[in-house]
Amino acid sequence: MVNVEEIRRLAECGSKMKVLYVEDEKVLREATRRLLFRFFKVVDTAENGEEGLIQYETGEYDIIISDICMPVLNGVDMVKKIKAKNEKQAVIVVSAHDDSHYLIDLINIGIDSFLLKPIKEQYLMSVLYKISSEIMYKQEVEKRKKVEQLLLQKSRIIAMGELITSIAHNWRQPLNQVGLIIQDLEEAYKFDELDENYLSESVSSTLSIISSMSSTITQFSNYFQPESTMMEFDIGQSLKKTLELFCKSLEHLNIECILNIHDDIKIIGYELEINQVFLHILNNAKDAIVEKQMSGFDPKDKKGIICEDVYKFEDMCIVLITDNGGNISEEILGRIFDPYFTTKEQGKGIGMGLYVSKIIIEEHMGGLLYAENIGNGVMFTIELPLALKKIQKEQMPLS
Ligand SMILES: Nc1ncnc2c1ncn2[C@@H]1O[C@H](COP(=O)(O)OP(=O)(O)OP(=O)(O)O)[C@@H](O)[C@H]1O
Ligand SMILES: [Mg+2]
Repeated sequence: MVNVEEIRRLAECGSKMKVLYVEDEKVLREATRRLLFRFFKVVDTAENGEEGLIQYETGEYDIIISDICMPVLNGVDMVKKIKAKNEKQAVIVVSAHDDSHYLIDLINIGIDSFLLKPIKEQYLMSVLYKISSEIMYKQEVEKRKKVEQLLLQKSRIIAMGELITSIAHNWRQPLNQVGLIIQDLEEAYKFDELDENYLSESVSSTLSIISSMSSTITQFSNYFQPESTMMEFDIGQSLKKTLELFCKSLEHLNIECILNIHDDIKIIGYELEINQVFLHILNNAKDAIVEKQMSGFDPKDKKGIICEDVYKFEDMCIVLITDNGGNISEEILGRIFDPYFTTKEQGKGIGMGLYVSKIIIEEHMGGLLYAENIGNGVMFTIELPLALKKIQKEQMPLS
Protein backbone atom coordinates (compact mmCIF):
# COMPACT_ATOMS: atom_id res chain seq x y z
CA MET A 1 0.00 0.00 0.00
CA VAL A 2 1.25 3.46 -0.81
CA ASN A 3 0.52 6.35 1.50
CA VAL A 4 -0.36 9.91 0.53
CA GLU A 5 3.20 11.14 0.96
CA GLU A 6 4.52 8.35 -1.32
CA ILE A 7 1.93 9.20 -3.98
CA ARG A 8 2.97 12.84 -3.79
CA ARG A 9 6.64 11.87 -4.15
CA LEU A 10 5.81 9.50 -7.06
CA ALA A 11 4.04 12.33 -8.86
CA GLU A 12 6.96 14.67 -8.16
CA CYS A 13 9.59 12.24 -9.50
CA GLY A 14 7.37 11.01 -12.32
CA SER A 15 6.69 14.51 -13.60
CA LYS A 16 10.26 14.48 -14.99
CA MET A 17 10.32 10.89 -16.22
CA LYS A 18 9.52 8.92 -19.37
CA VAL A 19 7.99 5.44 -19.29
CA LEU A 20 7.69 2.82 -22.03
CA TYR A 21 4.90 0.29 -21.48
CA VAL A 22 4.92 -2.86 -23.65
CA GLU A 23 1.73 -4.99 -23.55
CA ASP A 24 -0.18 -6.86 -26.26
CA GLU A 25 -3.62 -6.87 -24.55
CA LYS A 26 -5.29 -3.70 -25.77
CA VAL A 27 -7.75 -3.16 -22.89
CA LEU A 28 -5.10 -3.68 -20.21
CA ARG A 29 -2.62 -1.53 -22.14
CA GLU A 30 -5.02 1.39 -22.34
CA ALA A 31 -6.17 1.15 -18.72
CA THR A 32 -2.60 0.96 -17.38
CA ARG A 33 -1.43 3.72 -19.70
CA ARG A 34 -4.12 6.01 -18.27
CA LEU A 35 -3.03 5.17 -14.72
CA LEU A 36 0.66 5.77 -15.56
CA PHE A 37 -0.14 9.03 -17.27
CA ARG A 38 -1.42 10.40 -13.95
CA PHE A 39 2.14 10.27 -12.63
CA PHE A 40 4.63 10.37 -15.51
CA LYS A 41 5.54 13.12 -17.94
CA VAL A 42 5.61 10.76 -20.95
CA VAL A 43 4.00 7.34 -21.30
CA ASP A 44 4.65 5.60 -24.62
CA THR A 45 3.24 2.21 -25.45
CA ALA A 46 4.15 -0.70 -27.74
CA GLU A 47 2.20 -3.85 -28.66
CA ASN A 48 5.02 -6.38 -28.62
CA GLY A 49 8.73 -6.81 -27.95
CA GLU A 50 9.83 -5.84 -31.44
CA GLU A 51 7.79 -2.61 -31.41
CA GLY A 52 9.10 -2.01 -27.91
CA LEU A 53 12.69 -2.20 -29.16
CA ILE A 54 11.99 0.22 -32.03
CA GLN A 55 10.32 2.61 -29.60
CA TYR A 56 13.23 2.23 -27.18
CA GLU A 57 15.67 3.35 -29.87
CA THR A 58 13.76 6.58 -30.40
CA GLY A 59 13.55 7.85 -26.83
CA GLU A 60 15.45 7.70 -23.59
CA TYR A 61 13.17 6.04 -21.06
CA ASP A 62 13.63 6.13 -17.31
CA ILE A 63 11.45 3.05 -16.74
CA ILE A 64 10.39 0.17 -19.02
CA ILE A 65 7.32 -1.86 -18.02
CA SER A 66 6.77 -5.01 -20.05
CA ASP A 67 4.58 -8.07 -20.33
CA ILE A 68 6.29 -11.42 -21.05
CA CYS A 69 4.13 -13.41 -23.46
CA MET A 70 3.64 -11.33 -26.60
CA PRO A 71 3.63 -12.09 -30.32
CA VAL A 72 6.65 -11.46 -32.59
CA LEU A 73 9.19 -10.93 -29.77
CA ASN A 74 8.52 -11.83 -26.14
CA GLY A 75 9.24 -9.53 -23.20
CA VAL A 76 12.20 -11.56 -21.85
CA ASP A 77 14.10 -11.37 -25.17
CA MET A 78 13.25 -7.69 -25.54
CA VAL A 79 14.52 -6.91 -22.02
CA LYS A 80 17.71 -8.94 -22.70
CA LYS A 81 18.42 -6.76 -25.74
CA ILE A 82 17.67 -3.55 -23.85
CA LYS A 83 19.90 -4.58 -20.92
CA ALA A 84 22.72 -5.45 -23.36
CA LYS A 85 22.59 -1.84 -24.50
CA ASN A 86 22.11 -0.27 -21.10
CA GLU A 87 22.55 -2.50 -18.07
CA LYS A 88 21.39 0.28 -15.75
CA GLN A 89 17.97 0.58 -17.45
CA ALA A 90 15.16 0.24 -14.87
CA VAL A 91 12.76 -2.55 -15.91
CA ILE A 92 9.54 -3.87 -14.37
CA VAL A 93 8.16 -7.11 -15.78
CA VAL A 94 4.44 -7.84 -15.47
CA SER A 95 3.23 -11.32 -16.12
CA ALA A 96 0.72 -14.12 -15.55
CA HIS A 97 1.22 -16.95 -13.05
CA ASP A 98 2.12 -19.51 -15.69
CA ASP A 99 5.11 -17.36 -16.79
CA SER A 100 6.84 -17.69 -13.44
CA HIS A 101 9.38 -20.17 -14.91
CA TYR A 102 10.93 -17.11 -16.57
CA LEU A 103 11.66 -15.70 -13.18
CA ILE A 104 15.26 -17.04 -12.81
CA ASP A 105 16.05 -15.78 -16.30
CA LEU A 106 14.69 -12.34 -15.40
CA ILE A 107 16.60 -12.21 -12.13
CA ASN A 108 19.79 -13.02 -14.04
CA ILE A 109 19.11 -10.23 -16.53
CA GLY A 110 18.79 -7.89 -13.55
CA ILE A 111 15.24 -6.57 -13.68
CA ASP A 112 14.10 -4.25 -10.91
CA SER A 113 10.71 -5.77 -10.12
CA PHE A 114 8.31 -8.53 -11.13
CA LEU A 115 4.53 -8.02 -10.89
CA LEU A 116 1.80 -10.60 -11.28
CA LYS A 117 -1.30 -10.08 -13.35
CA PRO A 118 -3.94 -8.93 -12.75
CA ILE A 119 -2.04 -5.75 -11.89
CA LYS A 120 -3.09 -4.38 -8.52
CA GLU A 121 -3.07 -0.61 -8.81
CA GLN A 122 -1.75 -0.07 -5.28
CA TYR A 123 1.02 -2.60 -5.73
CA LEU A 124 2.10 -1.14 -9.08
CA MET A 125 2.19 2.33 -7.56
CA SER A 126 4.27 1.13 -4.63
CA VAL A 127 6.83 -0.46 -7.00
CA LEU A 128 6.88 2.64 -9.20
CA TYR A 129 7.34 4.86 -6.15
CA LYS A 130 10.41 2.88 -5.03
CA ILE A 131 12.00 2.72 -8.48
CA SER A 132 11.39 6.34 -9.42
CA SER A 133 12.67 7.57 -6.03
CA GLU A 134 15.90 5.58 -6.58
CA ILE A 135 16.30 6.92 -10.12
CA MET A 136 15.69 10.45 -8.91
CA TYR A 137 18.22 10.05 -6.09
CA LYS A 138 20.90 8.73 -8.50
CA GLN A 139 20.19 11.58 -10.94
CA GLU A 140 20.51 14.14 -8.14
CA VAL A 141 23.83 12.65 -6.98
CA GLU A 142 25.12 12.73 -10.58
CA LYS A 143 23.96 16.32 -11.01
CA ARG A 144 25.60 17.37 -7.74
CA LYS A 145 28.88 15.71 -8.76
CA LYS A 146 28.84 17.56 -12.08
CA VAL A 147 28.16 20.91 -10.40
CA GLU A 148 30.95 20.19 -7.90
CA GLN A 149 33.42 19.41 -10.67
CA LEU A 150 32.53 22.63 -12.46
CA LEU A 151 33.00 24.58 -9.24
CA LEU A 152 36.36 22.94 -8.62
CA GLN A 153 37.54 23.83 -12.09
CA LYS A 154 36.22 27.36 -11.82
CA SER A 155 37.85 27.93 -8.46
CA ARG A 156 41.15 26.46 -9.72
CA ILE A 157 41.13 28.95 -12.57
CA ILE A 158 40.41 31.78 -10.12
CA ALA A 159 43.26 30.69 -7.80
CA MET A 160 45.60 30.40 -10.78
CA GLY A 161 44.49 33.78 -12.11
CA GLU A 162 45.06 35.49 -8.75
CA LEU A 163 48.56 34.08 -8.52
CA ILE A 164 49.48 34.98 -12.09
CA THR A 165 48.13 38.52 -11.67
CA SER A 166 50.11 39.19 -8.52
CA ILE A 167 53.30 37.67 -9.93
CA ALA A 168 52.90 39.65 -13.15
CA HIS A 169 52.45 42.74 -10.99
CA ASN A 170 55.70 41.98 -9.17
CA TRP A 171 57.54 41.44 -12.45
CA ARG A 172 57.50 45.19 -12.97
CA GLN A 173 60.53 45.49 -10.73
CA PRO A 174 62.87 43.02 -12.54
CA LEU A 175 61.67 44.41 -15.87
CA ASN A 176 62.58 47.90 -14.67
CA GLN A 177 65.98 46.61 -13.61
CA VAL A 178 66.61 45.17 -17.08
CA GLY A 179 65.52 48.49 -18.60
CA LEU A 180 67.90 50.40 -16.34
CA ILE A 181 70.84 48.13 -17.18
CA ILE A 182 70.26 48.70 -20.90
CA GLN A 183 69.99 52.49 -20.48
CA ASP A 184 73.14 52.42 -18.36
CA LEU A 185 74.99 50.61 -21.17
CA GLU A 186 74.06 53.41 -23.55
CA GLU A 187 75.31 56.03 -21.09
CA ALA A 188 78.52 54.11 -20.45
CA TYR A 189 79.16 53.95 -24.18
CA LYS A 190 78.57 57.72 -24.54
CA PHE A 191 81.04 58.44 -21.75
CA ASP A 192 83.54 55.94 -23.04
CA GLU A 193 83.30 53.75 -19.95
CA LEU A 194 82.14 50.67 -21.82
CA ASP A 195 84.92 48.14 -21.80
CA GLU A 196 84.70 44.32 -21.99
CA ASN A 197 84.45 43.95 -18.25
CA TYR A 198 81.59 46.49 -17.96
CA LEU A 199 79.72 44.79 -20.78
CA SER A 200 80.10 41.28 -19.41
CA GLU A 201 78.92 42.36 -15.92
CA SER A 202 75.82 44.01 -17.39
CA VAL A 203 75.08 40.97 -19.56
CA SER A 204 75.42 38.58 -16.64
CA SER A 205 73.15 40.67 -14.35
CA THR A 206 70.54 40.87 -17.13
CA LEU A 207 70.74 37.14 -17.79
CA SER A 208 70.33 36.29 -14.12
CA ILE A 209 67.17 38.46 -13.89
CA ILE A 210 65.77 36.91 -17.07
CA SER A 211 66.60 33.39 -15.91
CA SER A 212 64.82 33.95 -12.59
CA MET A 213 61.73 35.22 -14.45
CA SER A 214 61.86 32.30 -16.83
CA SER A 215 62.18 29.78 -13.98
CA THR A 216 58.94 31.22 -12.55
CA ILE A 217 57.21 30.40 -15.84
CA THR A 218 58.56 26.83 -15.73
CA GLN A 219 57.47 26.46 -12.09
CA PHE A 220 54.02 27.66 -13.12
CA SER A 221 53.56 25.21 -15.93
CA ASN A 222 54.75 22.30 -13.77
CA TYR A 223 52.59 23.39 -10.87
CA PHE A 224 49.33 23.59 -12.77
CA GLN A 225 49.90 20.50 -14.91
CA PRO A 226 46.71 18.52 -14.32
CA GLU A 227 47.19 14.89 -13.31
CA SER A 228 44.75 12.37 -14.68
CA THR A 229 45.78 9.67 -12.21
CA MET A 230 46.24 9.58 -8.45
CA MET A 231 49.85 9.79 -7.37
CA GLU A 232 51.81 9.32 -4.20
CA PHE A 233 53.24 12.67 -3.17
CA ASP A 234 54.99 14.33 -0.28
CA ILE A 235 52.53 16.81 1.24
CA GLY A 236 55.28 18.95 2.81
CA GLN A 237 57.04 19.28 -0.54
CA SER A 238 53.73 20.11 -2.15
CA LEU A 239 53.22 22.99 0.28
CA LYS A 240 56.82 24.07 -0.31
CA LYS A 241 56.25 24.20 -4.09
CA THR A 242 53.06 26.20 -3.57
CA LEU A 243 54.90 28.64 -1.33
CA GLU A 244 57.77 29.09 -3.80
CA LEU A 245 55.25 30.46 -6.29
CA PHE A 246 52.99 32.15 -3.78
CA CYS A 247 55.88 34.03 -2.12
CA LYS A 248 56.67 35.68 -5.44
CA SER A 249 53.28 37.37 -5.14
CA LEU A 250 54.23 38.68 -1.67
CA GLU A 251 57.30 40.63 -2.69
CA HIS A 252 56.97 44.28 -1.59
CA LEU A 253 54.00 43.44 0.62
CA ASN A 254 56.02 43.10 3.82
CA ILE A 255 54.66 39.62 4.44
CA GLU A 256 56.88 36.72 5.44
CA CYS A 257 56.08 33.04 4.99
CA ILE A 258 57.55 30.51 7.40
CA LEU A 259 57.34 26.82 6.58
CA ASN A 260 58.10 24.13 9.17
CA ILE A 261 58.04 20.58 7.86
CA HIS A 262 58.34 18.44 10.98
CA ASP A 263 57.79 15.02 9.32
CA ASP A 264 58.02 13.62 5.80
CA ILE A 265 54.48 12.55 4.98
CA LYS A 266 53.47 10.80 1.80
CA ILE A 267 49.86 10.61 0.75
CA ILE A 268 48.07 9.31 -2.33
CA GLY A 269 45.73 11.55 -4.26
CA TYR A 270 45.48 14.40 -6.72
CA GLU A 271 48.29 16.78 -5.79
CA LEU A 272 46.79 19.60 -7.82
CA GLU A 273 43.68 19.54 -5.63
CA ILE A 274 45.54 19.87 -2.35
CA ASN A 275 47.68 22.62 -3.91
CA GLN A 276 44.45 24.38 -4.80
CA VAL A 277 43.39 24.23 -1.12
CA PHE A 278 46.76 25.64 0.02
CA LEU A 279 46.47 28.48 -2.47
CA HIS A 280 42.94 29.39 -1.35
CA ILE A 281 43.95 29.51 2.32
CA LEU A 282 47.20 31.39 1.62
CA ASN A 283 45.42 33.93 -0.59
CA ASN A 284 42.88 34.56 2.15
CA ALA A 285 45.68 35.05 4.70
CA LYS A 286 47.42 37.48 2.34
CA ASP A 287 44.17 39.43 1.78
CA ALA A 288 43.51 39.62 5.54
CA ILE A 289 47.03 40.89 6.25
CA VAL A 290 46.94 43.45 3.43
CA GLU A 291 43.59 44.72 4.69
CA LYS A 292 44.94 44.95 8.22
CA GLN A 293 48.06 46.73 7.02
CA MET A 294 45.87 49.32 5.31
CA SER A 295 43.75 49.91 8.40
CA GLY A 296 46.84 50.19 10.64
CA PHE A 297 48.76 47.17 11.84
CA ASP A 298 49.10 46.46 15.55
CA PRO A 299 52.47 48.02 16.53
CA LYS A 300 53.71 44.71 17.94
CA ASP A 301 53.29 43.11 14.51
CA LYS A 302 56.17 44.55 12.55
CA LYS A 303 55.15 42.63 9.48
CA GLY A 304 52.61 40.19 8.15
CA ILE A 305 53.41 36.58 8.92
CA ILE A 306 51.92 33.43 7.43
CA CYS A 307 53.19 30.33 9.16
CA GLU A 308 52.76 26.74 7.95
CA ASP A 309 53.42 23.59 9.94
CA VAL A 310 53.25 20.05 8.59
CA TYR A 311 53.45 17.10 10.98
CA LYS A 312 52.15 13.65 11.84
CA PHE A 313 49.85 13.13 14.80
CA GLU A 314 48.91 9.50 15.51
CA ASP A 315 47.50 8.26 12.20
CA MET A 316 46.78 11.74 10.88
CA CYS A 317 48.67 14.23 8.77
CA ILE A 318 48.17 17.76 10.10
CA VAL A 319 48.78 20.99 8.22
CA LEU A 320 48.36 24.26 10.13
CA ILE A 321 48.27 27.58 8.31
CA THR A 322 48.29 30.58 10.63
CA ASP A 323 48.32 34.30 9.90
CA ASN A 324 48.42 37.55 11.86
CA GLY A 325 45.85 39.35 9.71
CA GLY A 326 43.35 39.78 12.55
CA ASN A 327 40.53 37.63 13.95
CA ILE A 328 37.35 36.71 12.12
CA SER A 329 34.34 38.03 14.04
CA GLU A 330 32.41 35.31 15.84
CA GLU A 331 29.20 36.09 13.87
CA ILE A 332 30.81 35.18 10.58
CA LEU A 333 33.24 32.46 11.67
CA GLY A 334 30.51 29.84 11.28
CA ARG A 335 29.70 30.97 7.73
CA ILE A 336 33.10 31.24 6.04
CA PHE A 337 32.82 27.76 4.47
CA ASP A 338 29.38 28.52 2.98
CA PRO A 339 29.19 28.87 -0.80
CA TYR A 340 29.27 32.48 -2.00
CA PHE A 341 29.99 33.84 1.47
CA THR A 342 32.44 36.71 1.17
CA THR A 343 33.28 39.90 3.03
CA LYS A 344 35.44 41.16 0.20
CA GLU A 345 34.42 43.98 -2.06
CA GLN A 346 33.03 43.16 -5.49
CA GLY A 347 35.66 41.93 -7.90
CA LYS A 348 38.00 40.79 -5.08
CA GLY A 349 36.29 37.58 -4.06
CA ILE A 350 33.23 35.47 -4.81
CA GLY A 351 33.24 33.37 -1.66
CA MET A 352 34.05 30.01 -3.24
CA GLY A 353 37.64 29.39 -2.05
CA LEU A 354 36.88 27.85 1.33
CA TYR A 355 33.72 26.07 0.18
CA VAL A 356 35.64 24.27 -2.56
CA SER A 357 38.56 23.60 -0.19
CA LYS A 358 36.20 21.91 2.27
CA ILE A 359 34.77 19.67 -0.47
CA ILE A 360 38.30 18.64 -1.53
CA ILE A 361 39.54 17.90 1.98
CA GLU A 362 36.41 16.38 3.52
CA GLU A 363 34.59 14.73 0.62
CA HIS A 364 37.42 13.75 -1.71
CA MET A 365 40.13 13.04 0.83
CA GLY A 366 38.17 11.92 3.92
CA GLY A 367 39.76 14.58 6.13
CA LEU A 368 38.72 17.69 8.07
CA LEU A 369 39.17 21.40 7.42
CA TYR A 370 38.29 24.01 10.03
CA ALA A 371 39.24 27.49 11.17
CA GLU A 372 39.63 29.16 14.55
CA ASN A 373 40.81 32.49 15.86
CA ILE A 374 44.17 32.42 17.57
CA GLY A 375 46.10 35.39 18.96
CA ASN A 376 45.84 38.20 16.46
CA GLY A 377 44.94 36.07 13.47
CA VAL A 378 43.31 32.91 12.20
CA MET A 379 44.49 29.30 12.09
CA PHE A 380 43.28 26.86 9.43
CA THR A 381 43.74 23.18 10.26
CA ILE A 382 43.79 20.45 7.62
CA GLU A 383 43.59 16.93 9.03
CA LEU A 384 44.10 14.07 6.61
CA PRO A 385 44.03 10.37 7.46
CA LEU A 386 47.33 8.71 6.62
CA ALA A 387 45.43 5.67 5.36
CA LEU A 388 44.37 7.84 2.44
CA LYS A 389 45.03 5.12 -0.09
CA LYS A 390 41.89 3.25 0.84
CA ILE A 391 39.61 6.28 1.05
CA GLN A 392 40.84 7.74 -2.21
CA LYS A 393 40.35 4.52 -4.12
CA GLU A 394 36.67 4.56 -3.27
CA GLN A 395 36.25 8.04 -4.73
CA MET A 396 35.44 8.65 -8.35
CA PRO A 397 38.24 10.31 -10.32
CA LEU A 398 38.00 14.05 -10.60
CA SER A 399 38.44 16.43 -13.44
N1 LIG B 1 42.72 34.13 7.04
C1 LIG B 1 41.57 34.82 7.09
N2 LIG B 1 41.48 35.93 7.88
C2 LIG B 1 40.34 36.63 7.96
N3 LIG B 1 39.20 36.31 7.29
C3 LIG B 1 39.23 35.24 6.49
C4 LIG B 1 40.41 34.42 6.36
N4 LIG B 1 40.13 33.42 5.50
C5 LIG B 1 38.86 33.58 5.13
N5 LIG B 1 38.31 34.66 5.69
C6 LIG B 1 36.92 35.14 5.53
O1 LIG B 1 36.16 34.10 4.92
C7 LIG B 1 35.48 34.60 3.76
C8 LIG B 1 35.30 33.47 2.77
O2 LIG B 1 36.54 33.06 2.23
P1 LIG B 1 36.60 32.37 0.79
O3 LIG B 1 38.00 32.05 0.48
O4 LIG B 1 35.61 31.26 0.76
O5 LIG B 1 36.03 33.49 -0.17
P2 LIG B 1 36.71 34.85 -0.65
O6 LIG B 1 38.16 34.83 -0.32
O7 LIG B 1 35.90 35.95 -0.09
O8 LIG B 1 36.50 34.76 -2.22
P3 LIG B 1 37.23 33.74 -3.24
O9 LIG B 1 38.09 32.84 -2.42
O10 LIG B 1 36.11 33.02 -3.91
O11 LIG B 1 38.00 34.60 -4.15
C9 LIG B 1 36.35 35.73 3.28
O12 LIG B 1 35.61 36.66 2.50
C10 LIG B 1 36.82 36.34 4.62
O13 LIG B 1 35.83 37.16 5.17
MG1 LIG C 1 39.37 33.17 -0.80
